[in-house]
Amino acid sequence: MRKNIVAGNWKMNTLLKEGMELATAVNSLAKNKTSNATVIIAPPFTHLAEIKKTLTDVKLAAQNCASEESGAFTGEVSVGMLKSLGAEYIIIGHSERRAYYHEDNAILAKKVNLCLAAGLKPIFCIGEVLPERNANKHFDVVKSQLSEGVFHLSPDAFENLVIAYEPVWAIGTGVTASPEQAQEMHKFIRSVIAEKYGSQLADSTTILYGGSCKGSNAKELFANPDVDGGLIGGASLKAEEFLQIVNAF
Ligand code: PGA
Repeated sequence: MRKNIVAGNWKMNTLLKEGMELATAVNSLAKNKTSNATVIIAPPFTHLAEIKKTLTDVKLAAQNCASEESGAFTGEVSVGMLKSLGAEYIIIGHSERRAYYHEDNAILAKKVNLCLAAGLKPIFCIGEVLPERNANKHFDVVKSQLSEGVFHLSPDAFENLVIAYEPVWAIGTGVTASPEQAQEMHKFIRSVIAEKYGSQLADSTTILYGGSCKGSNAKELFANPDVDGGLIGGASLKAEEFLQIVNAF
C-alpha cells in the first residue's frame, strides 16, 4: 500500500554504543512526529538485535542480505537471520552494493525473492550514474533496473515492494536532484509500473527519493505528487535532522 516513508540508511557508520544512542534518540523523537510517515532505520548488521529491543515507534531495516537462503557462504547474513531479529525491511540494490560489490540485477532479483518469501519488504534501489544522465539514458537505465530486478514478480508480490529512486550522482555528494528532476523520474517510474501491472498497483506503490536529501530540502522534494518519502544517508546520522525530514510532509 502506498504510504509515506522516511528510511535512514546508516551505511557503515557508528560503533555499537553510538548506534544505540542514535537509535534511542530517533525513537524518542519519532514518538512526537507531526507527519504520518513510517520511520525506518537501517543500522549495520552488528547493531540490529540490540537496537531492535529499544524501538517502539521506528521500524527496523537491514542494509543488505545474502542472495542464498542458508549454508556454506562465509560472512553472509541470510534473510531468515534478519527476520529472526525483527527486521521488517531490507534495502536491496543500493548503488554502493551495485558498484563496489558487483551486484547485478540477476543477483538482486534473487535477494528480492528471498526477502518476499520470508515476508520481509524489500526497499529496491534504482538510479543512474551521471554519464548516463548526461547521455540522456537515465530513463532507459531505470526502466531496465526495474524490469530485470523486480518485474518477474506477481502483482501480489510486487505490492510488498518499496522502490527508492537514488540518482547515483546525488548520493553523498551534496548535489540533490531538483524537485522537478525527482518528480519527472518518479512519474516515469510509476508509468513503467503501470505499463507492467496496471495503474491501480502503480498508484499504490511507494516510491522514495534518495541522494543528499536533508532537513533543508526534504519539504520541496516531498511536495511532489509522486515522491512518497526518502531514503536518507548522511542526514540520518543526526537524530534531529532526520526527524525534521520525517516531519517534512
Ligand atoms: P545520502 O545517501 O543521503 O548521504 O546522499 C543516500 C543513500 O545512499 O541512500
